[in-house]
Amino acid sequence: MGKQQRTAEETAVVERAFQSLAAGTLGNVTFGKDQALVVREARGSHLWDFSGNEYIDYLLGSGPMVIGHAHPDVTEAVAAALDKGSTYFLTNLPAIELAEEIIRAVPCAEKVRFTTSGTDATFQCLRLARAYRKRDLVLKFEGGFHGMHDYSLMSLAPRAGQLGEFPAPASGSGGIPRAVQETVLVAPYNDLQYTADLLAKRHDEIGAVIIEPMQRVLTPVPGFLQGLRELCTRYEIPLIFDEVVTGFRVAYGGAQEYYDVQPDLCALGKVVGGGFALAAVCGRADIMDYYDPAAIASNDFVPMIGTLSGNPIASVAGLATLQVLRQPGQYEKLFANGRRLMAAVHETLGQHEIPHQISGEPPCFDVYFSPTPVTNYREHLAADGARAARLCAALMRRNILKPGQKFYLSLAHTNEDLAATEQALREAVAEI
Ligand SMILES: Cc1ncc(COP(=O)(O)O)c(C=O)c1O
Repeated sequence: MGKQQRTAEETAVVERAFQSLAAGTLGNVTFGKDQALVVREARGSHLWDFSGNEYIDYLLGSGPMVIGHAHPDVTEAVAAALDKGSTYFLTNLPAIELAEEIIRAVPCAEKVRFTTSGTDATFQCLRLARAYRKRDLVLKFEGGFHGMHDYSLMSLAPRAGQLGEFPAPASGSGGIPRAVQETVLVAPYNDLQYTADLLAKRHDEIGAVIIEPMQRVLTPVPGFLQGLRELCTRYEIPLIFDEVVTGFRVAYGGAQEYYDVQPDLCALGKVVGGGFALAAVCGRADIMDYYDPAAIASNDFVPMIGTLSGNPIASVAGLATLQVLRQPGQYEKLFANGRRLMAAVHETLGQHEIPHQISGEPPCFDVYFSPTPVTNYREHLAADGARAARLCAALMRRNILKPGQKFYLSLAHTNEDLAATEQALREAVAEI
């Protein structure tokens, strides 16, 4: 990565980070010690580092800040709520109101259980589905990201030499017990025929199918999600949509509204917490009942306790965020911003005759340096990732913050931001 300038003050703060934080970072984005960025503050669509560099932010906290950083509706609601205490471990009105709003918004949501991270939400979905279905195996899709628990890390990002033979997973981390590795089956995203054949053979062992309906920035080919839905219905296997990214982003009702396919369970995170630690499991009432000791025999009941679950401050932030998103025209604006940037990337690369594919939906997309369409993880792996990294670095030197594999759009991005980004793109593409 590259940034314009690094002051002595930021260098000193980076030094402290390397003294106190494991690997010198939060583990999320690695710039290297000489380029490391420490955030001073962020407002709207802009973020400032300790050296005073100002960036147009397409990271947006890895997605949550879809209405922009420090939105006054959120900060005012949070400030007012803080006066009433910051956490209770007890049922509170903001949590009830947020659950009600999730049920109004998300097609599959009949009941809600809060947790504090997307990782926990997908993990809880898997356990709940297995409790209901009484089978152990989990089917996921290669390259699908569901957070940092053991199941999710299987076949998350295997490198070329580590690709296994489907449906055997590749382990994605040290420390995962072999027993868990043996509990996960993996299929290629967007391959309905493979998935159908696998389910025909193994359905009686499978407790849950989990998928990102838009896997990273790979969009589902027509019929894939519908076909998966039909298979799961046929074999009575709970279908889990991980909507941690897509929830309230690709539509108010998430990818299940956008692609018109309803799962049995859904994990929400990011936007729903308005930038605070909140995530949720939601779905069919008869499955969510497994959280209810009054409804379920004791050995099937699924306990789920969390110190900060349904935290009132996070709930208030989520409610304020959703209220902004519900205003007329907001998704049209978000999509218009995204479409404009997608077109700019496409045109600029086209002018230089650089083979590429724009992938994703306008609120969240990226570019693959590949001459052929990218529809699954192995095609993603075959694209020129080094060139993509060079583009991110060249953009960073022009104060466009997009360090990961996604452009996240927000309602806070202005015409001026987009015009400045287009100019930076022209220069950056010429450079790479
Ligand atoms: C699709 C998806 N699922 C789950 C997670 C994990 O969420 P968290 O980082 O809140 O644990 C993420 C995080 O980026 C995600 O993108």
